[in-house]
Amino acid sequence: MKLGKKDFLSLRDFSREELDAILRVAAAQKPLARSFRLPASHPGRVLACIFHKPSLRTRLSFEVAIRQLGGTSLFITDREIGLESREAPKDVGQVLSRYVDAIMIRTFKQSLVEELAANATVPVVNGLTDLLHPCQVLGDILTVVEHRGSIDGARVVFIGDGNNVARSWLNAATRFPFTFVLAAPKGYEIEEAFVAEATRAGSPAYEVVHDPREALRGADVVYTDVWASMGQEADKERRAKAFAGFQVNDGLMKLAKPTAIFMHCLPAHRGDEVTDSVIDGPRSVVYDEAENRLHIQRAILSLLIPGDRTA
Ligand code: CP
Ligand code: NVA
Repeated sequence: MKLGKKDFLSLRDFSREELDAILRVAAAQKPLARSFRLPASHPGRVLACIFHKPSLRTRLSFEVAIRQLGGTSLFITDREIGLESREAPKDVGQVLSRYVDAIMIRTFKQSLVEELAANATVPVVNGLTDLLHPCQVLGDILTVVEHRGSIDGARVVFIGDGNNVARSWLNAATRFPFTFVLAAPKGYEIEEAFVAEATRAGSPAYEVVHDPREALRGADVVYTDVWASMGQEADKERRAKAFAGFQVNDGLMKLAKPTAIFMHCLPAHRGDEVTDSVIDGPRSVVYDEAENRLHIQRAILSLLIPGDRTA
């Protein structure tokens, strides 16, 4: 099995069939990896991990994933590279392609990731930009499938900022038949231009509401994320005021279906966007989500990087 694309930059670059294939590989590899029986299909392959923003999950899950496939990883921050300041992304893409077999990058601008990918001959994977977080959401869909059986027909309610995670959920809704509901304060919705592009790309079932209580009726998945993303720290206080009333607490969770699960990409600001009682409660699947980052990214790497055998 091979994907029709060299890179993994946005969920919208893939068909439903391709995304299903990644999910299938992840689900098949998961028990093997957990029991140390996963064949080393990519011995000697090297993954470069470039970070311009902090990370726990993304960094470690990518570094573990390539090792589980028999390869290894190299971590470098932009302090050393100086993308766009010390060196042109074009040269970085070309040079790295002579050393490594794939590049994972977490940075601010989506356009930088795209420029790097356009100039690299090896696969480039988006580990989060200000615009998108595709690995997160595909891993989250694996988690929904494990808990609900399927993402099809689900009502996924995202309570919070129309941010990178929310935009990737909207992109996912252009490929999978579920309803994506964003409950955000006025002024914090996903930009109209992005919604218009997503709509052209695949008619997502998408609703925007400004009252989280209204949004939660019939919810199968209740999702939240920080109110101020990495890079927006200076705006933290203004955002905290705007999002008052959008905290996922026991009162809000009661409005979702009794079977609804609670999801958060983490890191969480406990006491802000979610209470301890919800994130530590019986409906929370946040650590399953964190684990599934490993399984989905290992599947992505194993499908993008030529290996000794296919998974
Ligand atoms: N969810 C996620 O991407 O976590 P990190 O920022 O720790 O990588
Ligand atoms: N929206 C968050 C996600 C962190 C994984 C951020 O960009 O900081």
